[in-house]
Amino acid sequence: VRRRTVALPTYDVTIAADALDQLGQIVRAYAPAHRYAIVTDSNVGPVYAARVQAALDTRDEPLTIPAGEAHKTRETWARLTDSMLASGYGRDTTIIALGGGVVGDLAGFVAATFMRGVAYVQVPTSLLAMIDASVGGKTGVDTAAGKNLVGAFHQPAAVVADVSVLSTLPREHLRAGMAEAIKHGVIADAEYFDRVQSLAADLRALDAARLEDLVARSVEIKADVVRRDEREGGVRKTLNFGHTIGHAIELRSDFELLHGHAVAIGMVYETLIAERLGVAAAGTAARVRDAVRVAGLPDVRPSHMDVDSILAATHGDKKARAGAAEYALPARVGAMAAADRGWSLPVADGLVREVLG
Ligand SMILES: NC(=O)c1ccc[n+]([C@@H]2O[C@H](COP(=O)([O-])OP(=O)(O)OC[C@H]3O[C@@H](n4cnc5c(N)ncnc54)[C@H](O)[C@@H]3O)[C@@H](O)[C@H]2O)c1
Ligand SMILES: [Zn+2]
Repeated sequence: VRRRTVALPTYDVTIAADALDQLGQIVRAYAPAHRYAIVTDSNVGPVYAARVQAALDTRDEPLTIPAGEAHKTRETWARLTDSMLASGYGRDTTIIALGGGVVGDLAGFVAATFMRGVAYVQVPTSLLAMIDASVGGKTGVDTAAGKNLVGAFHQPAAVVADVSVLSTLPREHLRAGMAEAIKHGVIADAEYFDRVQSLAADLRALDAARLEDLVARSVEIKADVVRRDEREGGVRKTLNFGHTIGHAIELRSDFELLHGHAVAIGMVYETLIAERLGVAAAGTAARVRDAVRVAGLPDVRPSHMDVDSILAATHGDKKARAGAAEYALPARVGAMAAADRGWSLPVADGLVREVLG
C-alpha cells in the first residue's frame, strides 16, 4: 500500500487511499483504549461510520451531530458529553473524530474536556480538514460573539487522512479546500503552487496518487510552520495570508460564502495590497488571481457588499483600532514578507479601501 507519513513533534499524519482500513492498527498503536467513541456528522456518518466501527471492532453506535457550522456550538458539545456520560464512557476512551473541520474542532474539544481530557484521533474527511483543520491541535466551538472563541489546544494522538473519501465530498467543498492549498503554495513553495494550479484546473483528474501528494505537501507546509512557531514566534501568522480580508468577507456574507471561497477572494486583494506597498514583486497578484480562477473560486468581493463594513470587520469591528490592521503579505509566490517584523505589516485603511474599490 502506498502510504505517506508526515511526522509532527507528538504525532504522525498518515495519508493514503483506504487508510480507513488501517485505522484499527493505527489507533491500537497510538491511542489504545477500553472504548472508542466515534463522533461524526449526519452527512459523513451514514457513508463511513460502519467502516470505522468495523476497523475498530467496536459495537458502540457512532455519536452523530447534525452537519454544518451552525452546530459547532457549546450546545452540541453539551449533548455529546451528556450522551457519552449516559453511555458509560470513562477515562479510558479514545474519541475518533470522523468528519470535516466542524466535527474535528468539536470532537477535539470534547476530547480536551471529557474527564479532563482523553485521547483522540482525527479522521478528516474534507480536503480542508485534511490539509488544515486536523493539523495544529486547535479545537473549539463558535459562540454568538464569533467563531472559535471558546476552545483549547489539544493535540490528537494521530491523524489518518483517507483521500478516497473525497470522492463523496461536494464539489464546492473540494474547491474551498483548494483555496487553502493555493495559500500553502504562496506562503512556502512556488513549485507546489504551480502543481496545485494545474490540479485545480481539472478536479475530475484528481486520482488517489495526486490527492495523496497534495495532502502530504500541504500538511508538511502547515506542520513546518506550526513547528517553527515554537522557536521563532510569529511565523504562524503567515498561515493568515488571505484571511484578514477573507474572514471579513465571510462574516459580512453571514457565512453564506464558504470559508475557502472567502479566503480565495482575500488572497487576491491582499496580494494586490502587497504589490501596492512594494512588498510583493509585480505580477504576483496576477498569478494568485489566475490560480484562484482556474480553481473555479471567486476572485472579487460580492458587489453588493459594503466596503466600509468589510473594513470594519478587518478590525474585528473595534472602532478604536481603526486606522491600520496587520496583514501577513507575500513577497512573491513561494515566500512571505516581513520576516524581520514578525511576519506582519500594518496596512492603512485607505489602501484597503482603494484595493477593494
Ligand atoms: N482547528 C483548526 O486549526 C482549523 C483550521 C481551519 C478550519 N477549521 C474549522 O473547520 C471548519 C470547516 O471545515 P470543513 O470545511 O471541513 O467544514 P464541514 O466540517 O462543515 O464539512 C463541510 C461539509 O462537507 C460534508 N462532508 C465532509 N466530508 C465529507 C465526505 N467525505 N463526503 C461527503 N460529505 C462530506 C460535511 O458534512 C459538511 O456538510 C470550520 O468550523 C473552521 O473553523 C479549524
Ligand atoms: Zn482558512
